[in-house]
Amino acid sequence: IESLTVQELAKKLHREPSEIIKKLFMLGVMATINQTLDKDAIELIAGEYGVEVEEEILVDLTDLESLVTDDAPENTIERPSVVTIMGHVDHGKTTLLDSIRNTKVTEGEAGGITQHIGAYQVEVSGKKITFLDTPGHAAFTTMRARGAQVTDITILVVAADDGVMPQTVEAINHAKAAEVPIIVAVNKMDKESANPDRVMQELTEHGLVSEAWGGDTIFVPISAKQGEGIDTLLEMVLLVGEVEEYKANPERRAVGTVIESRLDKGRGTVATLLVQNGTLKIGDPIVVGNSFGRVRAMVNDLGRRVKEAGPSTPVEITGLNEVPDAGDRFIVFEDEKTARQVGETRAQRQLVSSRNEKSVVTLDNLFEQM
Ligand code: GTP
Ligand code: MG
Repeated sequence: IESLTVQELAKKLHREPSEIIKKLFMLGVMATINQTLDKDAIELIAGEYGVEVEEEILVDLTDLESLVTDDAPENTIERPSVVTIMGHVDHGKTTLLDSIRNTKVTEGEAGGITQHIGAYQVEVSGKKITFLDTPGHAAFTTMRARGAQVTDITILVVAADDGVMPQTVEAINHAKAAEVPIIVAVNKMDKESANPDRVMQELTEHGLVSEAWGGDTIFVPISAKQGEGIDTLLEMVLLVGEVEEYKANPERRAVGTVIESRLDKGRGTVATLLVQNGTLKIGDPIVVGNSFGRVRAMVNDLGRRVKEAGPSTPVEITGLNEVPDAGDRFIVFEDEKTARQVGETRAQRQLVSSRNEKSVVTLDNLFEQM
C-alpha cells in the first residue's frame, strides 16, 4: 500500500474516521477525512492499533518485463525491424506510408483487404518490415513518455523542394535521444524545384552526413507520390536491420506495447498491440497497462483472424476489461488468476496515485508546517 485516504484507512482498520483524525491530531497532524496519507503515516496509525501493513505483490510491468525479456542469445532469432516515419508537415509522410503499403502489402495476398490497425507489415526480398502508422512524433512522444520504446529505425522524410524545417530538426532530436538509427528519404524528387544537395547540406549541420560525402547516414532520393525509390528505401531498411541485428525469442510468453486502442460498440475494447518479444496467442491471460483479460480474438493488418502473433507483429485484440492507452506495456501471464490480480492492483494503484497528485499529506511535511 503506497497511500490511502483517512476514510479508507479507517475502513480498513474498522474504526470511525473521526477516531483516526483524533489519533492523527494526537500525533500533531491536522487531517481531514479525504486527505491522503502516505505509507509511513499509514504504518504509524496502523501500528497504534497493533495492525501490520501488508506488502502488495510486485506490479511494475517494467520490472516484470525484464524478467521475461532476459533471453539467452541461443534462444533468439532475427525479428522484423519496426520502422516509424517522421518529418516536417507536408513533406510526404502519409503519402510514403500509403505508397509502401499499396505497393507491398497486397503482393501475393490476393483479395487481402488492408485494414487500419495502426501498423502494418510488408515483405521485401522475403523479409518482413513492420511500419507504425501513427504519426512519428506522437509515437515517440506519447510512447516514450511512458517509457516504451517501440521503434528500431526512423525514416526521416525531407521534401527536396523545401529542405530542413523545424519539425525535421525535432524528429532528428527525438531519434537521437532514443538512439534510433535514421535513414533519410529525400522526397518529392519529381518536382522541378527539387534540390537534394541542399537537403544534404542542411542535414550536415545536424550531424547527418551522407555516405556520398564521407559520412555514415543513408540518403535515398524518392518520390512517394510516384512510387520512385521506394524499393531502394526498403532495401536500406533491411540493410540497417541486418547491421543492428534485432532479435527476439518467439518461444516465450509475449510482452510488448499498445499502439492504438478504442471502444468498439460490437466488439468491446479493441487494442492494437505490437508484440516485441515472445509469441501472443489466443486465450493468453494478459495485463495491458491497468487493464487485463484474456486474448479473445486476434486480427492482423490484413483483416485476417490469426491464432498467434510473433515478435514485431502488430495485431488487434479483443478481450480486455478496459481500454488501455497507447504506449501502455502489456505482458502475458501464466494463468488468469495472476493476470487478474496484477491488473486489479495496478488499476487500484492508479486511482490512488491520481488522487495523490491532488493532495499528499505526509507526516513529515505536516510536522514541518506546524
Ligand atoms: P502531415 O501529415 O500534414 O504532416 O503531412 P505529410 O507529411 O503526411 O504529407 P502528405 O503525405 O500528406 O503530403 C503532403 C502533400 O505533398 C500532398 O499534397 C502530397 O500529394 C504531396 N506529396 C507527397 N509526396 C510527394 C512527392 O513525392 N511528389 C510530389 N510532387 N508531391 C508529393
Ligand atoms: Mg500525414
